[in-house]
Amino acid sequence: MCGITGYIGTREAWPILIEGLRRLEYRGYDSAGAALVNNGSLSVYKAKGKVADLESAAADKDRSGTAGIAHTRWATHGEPNTANAHPHLSPSGRLAIVHNGIIENYATIKSRLRQEGYEFKSTTDTEVLVYLIEYLMQKHGKGLLEAVQSALAEVVGAYAIALADRDDPDMLIAARKSSPLVIGIGDGEFYIASDVSPIAGCTDKVVYMEDGEIAIMRRGEPLKIVDLKNVECRHEVRPVPENIGLAGKDGFAHFMLKEIHEQPDCIIDCMRGRVDGPLGTVRLSAVTENKERLSAARRFVIVACGTSWHAGLIGKQYIETFCHVPVEVAYASEFRYSNPVIDSSDVVIAISQSGETADTLAAIELAKSKGAFIYGICNVVGSSIARATDTGSYIHVGPEIGVASTKAFTGQVAVLLLLALNLAEAMGTMKPETYHATVKALMEIPDKMREVLKSDKVIAGLSRTFTYAHNFIYLGRGFSYPVALEGALKLKEISYIHAEGYPAAEMKHGPIALIDAEMPVVFIATKNAMYEKVLSNVQEIKARKGRVLAVVTAGDKVVSSIADDVLEVPETLECLEPLIVSIPLQLLAYHIAVCKGKDVDRPRNLAKSVTVE
Ligand code: F6R
Repeated sequence: MCGITGYIGTREAWPILIEGLRRLEYRGYDSAGAALVNNGSLSVYKAKGKVADLESAAADKDRSGTAGIAHTRWATHGEPNTANAHPHLSPSGRLAIVHNGIIENYATIKSRLRQEGYEFKSTTDTEVLVYLIEYLMQKHGKGLLEAVQSALAEVVGAYAIALADRDDPDMLIAARKSSPLVIGIGDGEFYIASDVSPIAGCTDKVVYMEDGEIAIMRRGEPLKIVDLKNVECRHEVRPVPENIGLAGKDGFAHFMLKEIHEQPDCIIDCMRGRVDGPLGTVRLSAVTENKERLSAARRFVIVACGTSWHAGLIGKQYIETFCHVPVEVAYASEFRYSNPVIDSSDVVIAISQSGETADTLAAIELAKSKGAFIYGICNVVGSSIARATDTGSYIHVGPEIGVASTKAFTGQVAVLLLLALNLAEAMGTMKPETYHATVKALMEIPDKMREVLKSDKVIAGLSRTFTYAHNFIYLGRGFSYPVALEGALKLKEISYIHAEGYPAAEMKHGPIALIDAEMPVVFIATKNAMYEKVLSNVQEIKARKGRVLAVVTAGDKVVSSIADDVLEVPETLECLEPLIVSIPLQLLAYHIAVCKGKDVDRPRNLAKSVTVE
């Protein structure tokens, strides 16, 4: 979380920094700030709130300067206020720093610096870092670069930083460890950003910084990258990936709604070049290139967080059903501390929309160190996870701006399905007729999604009747169980209504005690192998006067006659149902949150990319 931008060149820095922050606002938006270097001074502007608040706060100030750094914050240490907003200044005011990540040993360093007589103005870990750098310059006679190297060698934790020096206005310094940072190289100018989006459209040359690297960007000189021991690092200049830039809302009220409606096209993009419709076959280049390694896997371990973890639960069912290989699904945050028994016979599948989630990245590194082969499923091209894996498949759903993940979820499910189908065919574990029928049914999904999206207005109307609720329960079985978990997560994230997902049959083992006439229960009760069982579960809830909203297969009369409300979805293969059933649940969460007046695209306390532990 937190977004960093920086610029040094010949143009005015302020508009470039602000535009960059806007594109990074998905990473955090509780406060924002910028520092401009101009004529031997550092002008620092900060505001609590969003980037627009920063613009207003600085509107009547001098914003000139051709070098600067800026930041949009998602608080980790210290509440969101102006004092804690970045940039933070060194004690003398000579250096300004912006930081994304967490300095874990900041308290120890802070108390040491306090003993040296330093007083701090904020409660952040970041301020401690810039104080340490200046302390090393003043008390140990180090130059700025050397002081940065010593300070970074001492800190424990994760960081992406950008630094400006009032006394050296022709240079910016940036460094990274475990938090993403990208440098754009223009004509006599450099850009710094947490991801490529602020750089797209400014230059087509980017360098993805690696852990332990420090970039020195000096006006009129080529980019120089060194490590903490001052050894020069070779760097690869890459093109900016296509389709990056500031996405618009295209007439939708929110990015989330737009992204929900994009899903039919996303699935088409995801299948493009991979699914051969006439032949009814699937080819993923990652599977073709690593067929032997993947087919030899004794076990798959899926690591992910949040929505991506829910997609992983569906992926498990695909791989176990089609390939007959056992699959474990772990929260990346738990996996890394659970002493996992893992070796070179395992294949780890890491799923991440952003490709920057710190816990998932750490799980990958751990699995790698134990010899496992790593398959990545990411959305953001060139992201840290995409680069850390041995192979992988992008989901190709385009930039997801809404903080609540929607199209990335269905994209992840689609890629997991393609992976399982391709692998099953390679391993000979699936009947050819089932394989071809599944591929053919998958090709019909975009049209079926369009059908479901037509119920948007109906769901909007229905949502108004649910704003009273303080709790929701979501129930499903088999493939629909992870969809129930995901539906509940969507609702709580953006409407702040407490919601829980359960396997439907688990209800009677405890949660049923919660049921009364006030309690909305969302059932996924589509016509599949579990239908009769789920029907009994619906009756159990109705017998206790719970309010049932059921997602049913079009034409269903039985559940419809018992449930209070129903939402119909077109019939498809059971394994493909998650792709269409998740849409009414996304719309339900969206419209309830809108009815409750919540900031759907930027829900409180959340950030799009969780680059801290
Ligand atoms: C939920 C959501 C989060 C993310 C989670 C993992 O809507 O967006 O739960 O799914 O933080 O993020 P990625 O997929 O970027 O690793």
